[in-house]
Amino acid sequence: MPHRTPLIERYRAHLPVTPQTPRLSLGEGDTPLVRAPALERETGIAEVWLKVEGANPTGSFKDRGMVVAIAKAMEEGAQAVLCASTGNTAASAAAYAARAGLRCAVVLPAGHVALGKLSQAIAFGARVVAVRGSFDDALALSRELATSGEATLVNSVNPYRIEGQKTAAFEICETLGDAPEWLCIPVGNAGNITAYWKGFTEARDAKMAKRRPQMHGFQAAGAAPIVNGEVVADPQTIATAIRIGNPASWNGAVRARDESGGSITAVTDDEILDAYQFLARCEGVFCEPASAAAVAGLRKLARVGTKPRQVVCVLTGNGMKDPDRAIALAPKIAEVDAQLDAVRDAIRVP
Ligand code: F0G
Repeated sequence: MPHRTPLIERYRAHLPVTPQTPRLSLGEGDTPLVRAPALERETGIAEVWLKVEGANPTGSFKDRGMVVAIAKAMEEGAQAVLCASTGNTAASAAAYAARAGLRCAVVLPAGHVALGKLSQAIAFGARVVAVRGSFDDALALSRELATSGEATLVNSVNPYRIEGQKTAAFEICETLGDAPEWLCIPVGNAGNITAYWKGFTEARDAKMAKRRPQMHGFQAAGAAPIVNGEVVADPQTIATAIRIGNPASWNGAVRARDESGGSITAVTDDEILDAYQFLARCEGVFCEPASAAAVAGLRKLARVGTKPRQVVCVLTGNGMKDPDRAIALAPKIAEVDAQLDAVRDAIRVP
């Protein structure tokens, strides 16, 4: 028996799987839900939980949806898969395609993909193409290429992706015994907030939960089309994962916000980086900058208005995805002779 029950097995009653669907798995899902005591103290909220999606096999939540999308592509006889990506979708598609024996091509915005993600796509043997343009350009091109039928598109416009990703909401309900009062989540292409809302709705209907949460989504201020109510032609943020100006699941995000009585607001890059460092230094949890947007947003909401008693923040990706960002924030590393006194002096806090 595998260490973890494969996601497709565990939630088969809630997923579009048939006896013909291959039982593909790299050990995705069943990620830790970790208490955040420092955030609880700071915000005055009784329970703050972190859903650590960086613990998935390729280090992001994408694996939940990708395992279903690739398994269905196999079932349907596909030979190749294709996606546009800010990095994590590419890493996940490349890994599951490698496992499934399918060819994989990924289309990335040149110069705006974090190093760890790029190294994964290359290591897993994907054909990597960088376009001079944004993620939105890459997605438009990939959608057009996929219409020829040469490759199956595995972006979150593929409904199997949303189906797989909704399982994170099931896990949260199982662990807490109900849905939380609030869910805080970063928003980029808006597939994940759409998937969580679907998951919480199905969890309530299946009596896994009594309520649904208020959905609070956060975009980076320089890439906040849903907040602004218009497409952003040239999105900019240090949180490269959510550097998106025209989200494919825009309507799904708006529906999640409105049906849940939640919000979608913007957080600045400074607020994102502050939350990123706080999580690492005060909670011992290293996530990537886009993920920290959820916590930056929670801190902001907690300063105004009524506070909930219980919140879950979704930490969508592992901090090691973007090593350049962590290192750029570090003071210069001391390099000394290999001698006791020199090392002791260098360690001593001034
Ligand atoms: N957090 C991380 C770490 C991501 O990689 C993404 C999206 C998001 C949040 C936002 O999720 O798009 O469903 O709203 N990354 C995509 C990619 C776009 O290509 O890897 P979303």
